[in-house]
Amino acid sequence: MDSRYTNVIDLNDMGTGRWLDIVKLASKIYDDPSAYAKACDGKIMATLFYEPSTRTQMSFQTAMLRLGGTIIGFDNPATSSVAKGENLKDTTKIVSGYADIMVMRHPSDGAAKAAALTADCPIINAGDGGHLHPSQTLTDMLTLYREKGRLTDLTIGLCGDLKNGRTVHSMCKALAGFEGIKFVFISTPQLGMPQYIKDILMASGCTFTEEASLEAAMPSLDVLYMTRVQKERFASEEEYDRLKGAYCLDRAKMALGRKDLIVMHPLPRVDEIPMDVDDDPRAMYFKQAHYGVFVRMALILTVLGEPDRKYPLLVGKEFRSVNCANPNCITHKEKYLPHYFRGTDLLECEYCDERTLN
Ligand code: NCD
Repeated sequence: MDSRYTNVIDLNDMGTGRWLDIVKLASKIYDDPSAYAKACDGKIMATLFYEPSTRTQMSFQTAMLRLGGTIIGFDNPATSSVAKGENLKDTTKIVSGYADIMVMRHPSDGAAKAAALTADCPIINAGDGGHLHPSQTLTDMLTLYREKGRLTDLTIGLCGDLKNGRTVHSMCKALAGFEGIKFVFISTPQLGMPQYIKDILMASGCTFTEEASLEAAMPSLDVLYMTRVQKERFASEEEYDRLKGAYCLDRAKMALGRKDLIVMHPLPRVDEIPMDVDDDPRAMYFKQAHYGVFVRMALILTVLGEPDRKYPLLVGKEFRSVNCANPNCITHKEKYLPHYFRGTDLLECEYCDERTLN
C-alpha cells in the first residue's frame, strides 16, 4: 500500500538525494529568508502535539508563519477531544480535512505511520515515542553541512540515552549510507543503542564502535552529539534515578576534545551539559536549534510543493494473530490498526520496526 500524500514519517522512505535537496534549500532560506515570506500564502498547517515540546512545535509553527501560512492545532491533548476518548484515527482524519499539512508528535512508536494510513493531507512525523524524529535529523544535517562543511567523513560520538532517544535512532538510520561516517556509541549497557539500529548500520557497511567512557572517546571525535536520559520512557522513577547523570560533558572533558570539534544536542538538556560549557565556541546546540526553523521551512515547502508524491506505507503482510513485541508500539493502543509486518519468520513491525518471532 502506497501513501496518498508526501508524508515524512521515516527519512529512509525517500532517497538520500531528496534529504540533501531539503538541507540545501534550508541553507538557501537561512541566507535569504525574506525571499520565501509569501511562499505558503493561504496554506494552513495543523500541529497535533500529544507530547510536550518547545523547539519542534514552535519551530514548525514559526516556519509556517515565516512562509506566510497560518497554523491551527493543540499542544495539550487534554484540551481536545482526545480527553473524551477519541481515537487517533478519528482525530487525525478530521484535522487533516481542515489543514493542508499536518505535523504530529505522539508518545507511541509508529503513531505517525498509523495516522498516515487514513489522513487526508500530508503528515510530518515530529517524533513518535522513542522511534524516529526525521525533522530533527534534517536539522542535525543542516548543522553539519553549515558548521563542518560536509555530511561525509565524520567521526560522530553519540552520548547518553541511545536506547530511548529517537533523535539518535533517526540520525543513525539516515547517515548510515553516507561515505566515511563512523559512529562512536558512548553509553552504559542499560542505555545502549538498540540492536535493530546496529543491524541497519552493519547492513549498509557503516562503522560503529561502542565506548563506555566519554573521556576516552573525546579526542577522536569531529562531532559530539549529547542526549538527555529520556525520563518519560522509563517504567519507574527509581529506574530513571539509577541511570540519570550517567554522562556529563563538563569543561574538563571539553578540554580533551579537538579544536574543530562541534558539540550538538537536540535539547532540552537536563544536567548532561553544565551551563559553563555554553561559552565554548565549539558548543553548537543553540545554533542547531535555530537552524531547525529553516529546515522546517524547507520541509514544508518540499511537502506542499509535491503534496501527492507516493511512498510505500505498508509493504509487508497482515498477520492478524501476531502482536508486536514492543509494548510502546501504537498497535497496542489503537486496537483497530491492522498488524502489518515485513518478513516471514522474524517479523519486523511496519509501524515501529521492532522484531517479533512469528
Ligand atoms: C528531542 C525529542 O523530543 O526527541 N527534542 C527535540 O525535539 N528537540 C530530544 C529530547 O526530548 O530529549
